[in-house]
Amino acid sequence: MSAGTGAPLAGGVHGPGHLRALTSVVLDTLESAARARGGPLPAGGPDEVARRTTALAAPVLPEEGIGTEAALADLVRALGEGAADPADPACVAHLHCPPLAVAAAAELAGAALNPSMDSWDQAPAAGVIEELTTAALARLVHPDAAAPDALITSGGTESNLVALLLARERAAPGHLRVVTGANAHHSVHRAAWMLGLPAPTVVACHDGRIDPAALDRTLAGLGGGPVLVVATAGTTDEGRIDPLPEIARIAERYGAELHVDAAYGGPLLFSERLAPRLAGLDRAVSVTFDLHKLGWQPVAAGVLAVADTALLAPLSLRADYLNADDDTEAGLPDLLGRSVRTTRRPDALKMAVTFRALGRRGLSELVEHCVRTAEEFGRAVDARPALRRRPGAIGISTVLFRPVVADEQEAEAGDAVVAEVRRTLLMDGRAVLGRAVAEDGDGRRRLWLKATLLHPAAASADLLPLLDLVTEAAERAAVAAEDGDSPSAPGGTGAPAAERLSP
Ligand SMILES: Cc1ncc(COP(=O)(O)O)c(C=O)c1O
Repeated sequence: MSAGTGAPLAGGVHGPGHLRALTSVVLDTLESAARARGGPLPAGGPDEVARRTTALAAPVLPEEGIGTEAALADLVRALGEGAADPADPACVAHLHCPPLAVAAAAELAGAALNPSMDSWDQAPAAGVIEELTTAALARLVHPDAAAPDALITSGGTESNLVALLLARERAAPGHLRVVTGANAHHSVHRAAWMLGLPAPTVVACHDGRIDPAALDRTLAGLGGGPVLVVATAGTTDEGRIDPLPEIARIAERYGAELHVDAAYGGPLLFSERLAPRLAGLDRAVSVTFDLHKLGWQPVAAGVLAVADTALLAPLSLRADYLNADDDTEAGLPDLLGRSVRTTRRPDALKMAVTFRALGRRGLSELVEHCVRTAEEFGRAVDARPALRRRPGAIGISTVLFRPVVADEQEAEAGDAVVAEVRRTLLMDGRAVLGRAVAEDGDGRRRLWLKATLLHPAAASADLLPLLDLVTEAAERAAVAAEDGDSPSAPGGTGAPAAERLSP
């Protein structure tokens, strides 16, 4: 049944019919918008994007509506023409993956039926799908544990927050200390702040990884009391994996617990060949593991795995309207204690669909593809005299490099050239590269361009034009720096779409 004439619903028997018509508007518009954009992001920079988007999207709340199809066509066009699209091989700035079509299609089913994961009477089957999904992920992370468990979260930030919250609840009130590496994600610090914990003690890193000797000294200096060591498996800037077996050993020696933020690296577990890089992960009491990074899921797809389901007890809560005691006693599953949120999206659905569609082997192939492509891309950088890769190993699928012309400048001016190259390519709509400050071979910290390679199909040959773009932009930036002016006026060089790198 549909409600009125102007607002057909998505669910029920008739919903799919309405959706079929509307999704064809969405899909046609997405296709033409991608063609019109012609590259990884729109040319022209923020002002130009704001102008074009506003022209299509405003007023967002008119007195009289413009109609379903017109609104969808306008807004989806604005979104698509103005997107930074990670399906383009030149969109490699962040842990921002291109979602698989199968996962995006599953999202549509979730959106149509709108299960909310906070009570059984809103999500009868969705609750079971979530349970099956979290059980599979829990077993992947802690294969030898008697009763491992996992929660679905909105991403790494929430997973780290809940991990610190659970650790705080295990410790005597007011006593937990968090110790983490200088390479940790900012969400670890923010979680401590939100939970009223002392600021984490930061351990020095060597080559982007926690220095075990420094961790040992730090724990010795804390003189006992409950401590949560937070290590990282796949750092944001460099993709580096902390030495987990040594860290687990040191933490155990001091009676500290270990949480591993494997938001990026976790999916290496899908691959038998790459899983050994995460040796020691199963010794963590909790593990952050995202599937909207190296897992090709649309946002949000976060997971927090714990070694024992009993560790989740602090999250349990009674709210009579959602999980009354008598309902639970009568056998209605209690979902409320599975999150710090109340209303929650069925994010496990797209994960489950993807897992069943590809199987562990299929996921493993995608992960291995990204790692292999990064290694080939690294070698391609090494082969270019005009570019220099950050010395050392490639972290998972992240390659840091900079133009040699930047090294020919004073330290700060060199970094400014690197930053300018990134901005020029962004403004021109040619490439979305990231930036990271990381240690160079001489121990000094420098600014690098960052390519986070998460495209599950792009070959390294598809990425080579990126190196030409960087070289060319760097030469212009260096000349402009010598002339004392900025090479990238707002709006960039306005390269035509056809000159941009296409998939
Ligand atoms: C290592 C690490 N942990 C946590 C996060 C936060 O994840 P999210 O953005 O999904 O909240 C990130 C984000 O990039 C990350 O790189």
